[in-house]
Amino acid sequence: MNILVTGGTGYIGAHTCVSLLEAGHKVIVLDNFINSKKDIVGKIEYITNKKIQFHEVDVTDELMIDKIFSNYDLDAVIHFAGLKAVGESVIDPLKYYYNNILSTLNIAKACGKYGVFNLIFSSSATVYGENTVPFVENMELLPPINPYGYTKMMSERILMDISNSNPNFSVSILRYFNPVGAHKSGLIGELPKGNPNNIMPIITKVAKGLYDKLKIFGNDYPTNDGTAVRDYIHVVDLAEGHVAAIERLKRGTHIYNLGTGQGTSVLELVHTFERVNGVKICCEIVERRPGDIAVCYADVSKAANELGWKTKLTISDMVKDAWYFENKI
Ligand code: NAD
Ligand code: UFG
Repeated sequence: MNILVTGGTGYIGAHTCVSLLEAGHKVIVLDNFINSKKDIVGKIEYITNKKIQFHEVDVTDELMIDKIFSNYDLDAVIHFAGLKAVGESVIDPLKYYYNNILSTLNIAKACGKYGVFNLIFSSSATVYGENTVPFVENMELLPPINPYGYTKMMSERILMDISNSNPNFSVSILRYFNPVGAHKSGLIGELPKGNPNNIMPIITKVAKGLYDKLKIFGNDYPTNDGTAVRDYIHVVDLAEGHVAAIERLKRGTHIYNLGTGQGTSVLELVHTFERVNGVKICCEIVERRPGDIAVCYADVSKAANELGWKTKLTISDMVKDAWYFENKI
């Protein structure tokens, strides 16, 4: 297939491009580098020994998106492009609504106009809010607690309504849990611009001596050791989930959780990192982070049954590959 990948030089997008190319697909990548670096294009090509078509484009630019769609014979689109820093979305909500919603609208409009009816969208477990675990796709969603979460919920709604209005559409909405880790080459991994907010790049930077300590946000949650529990998924497994999803698209809108189905606490993650990599992580328990929920993990049976996909890599693989990547930066 000829697949247009928006945000394809970002963390998940780059790993997915590698998996798509390895599976024999062709990729056309769009990114404006608002949260990624230009050299990722060459790294994807180096890892796969395959060429990609790259365009530096802002997906909120409707005319440019129209031009891209008119220039290629596309079979499918994977729409990753979006801003994802939860805290920043509270401080500057308009930036998030503008970027994330307008980019979804432009992609959906061009898909309809050019008859590219196969579409995959990057959503997030954040749309479940503080539901009861495990989170199942058909649960009623609770109101998100930040503008970022609303952009995901609204984008999901827009795509569902579009596919309801046009029976040609096959839309898969993928709700990611907590992607961590890096490609085994150490060439691509999680490298946000500015200070990281997510836990794994903070842990690796503490391990490397770039930060003094990991601040653990709360140890009074109702969990085994009091620290919050998440469903960490290796980014390479997540990338493979996109290959499975693109190869099993079907008419209508279908939602899939992409996670492992296993919860891991912050302390368990830190201790696994220390054990596997033989490095000490200095930690301090601080106040809970506003907006964090206690426990979040997926019911993954729908993705297993319908996409024939499940994760293969363990928490040990995740911490090992994240540390290898940090040392190659
Ligand atoms: P990322 O920031 O590494 O990648 C996003 C990419 O999109 C970046 O390369 C960025 O430069 C690009 N981009 C953003 N806005 C753009 C625009 N208007 N035009 C062109 N390019 C643009 O983030 P990621 O972790 O790879 O996440 C990819 C997607 O998955 C995002 O939509 C994110 O919200 C979603 N998601 C991520 C996580 C996570 O924890 N990483 C969890 C759930 C959902
Ligand atoms: N944490 C710390 N200290 C830190 C950073 C994080 O203790 O310095 C804890 C958090 O409190 C949380 C866990 O580590 O319990 C994971 O935090 P992340 O910031 O890495 O991830 P979140 O679970 O908050 O959110 C991530 C993405 C969201 C996405 C969500 C889906 O950032 O975009 O996963 O589950 F919506």
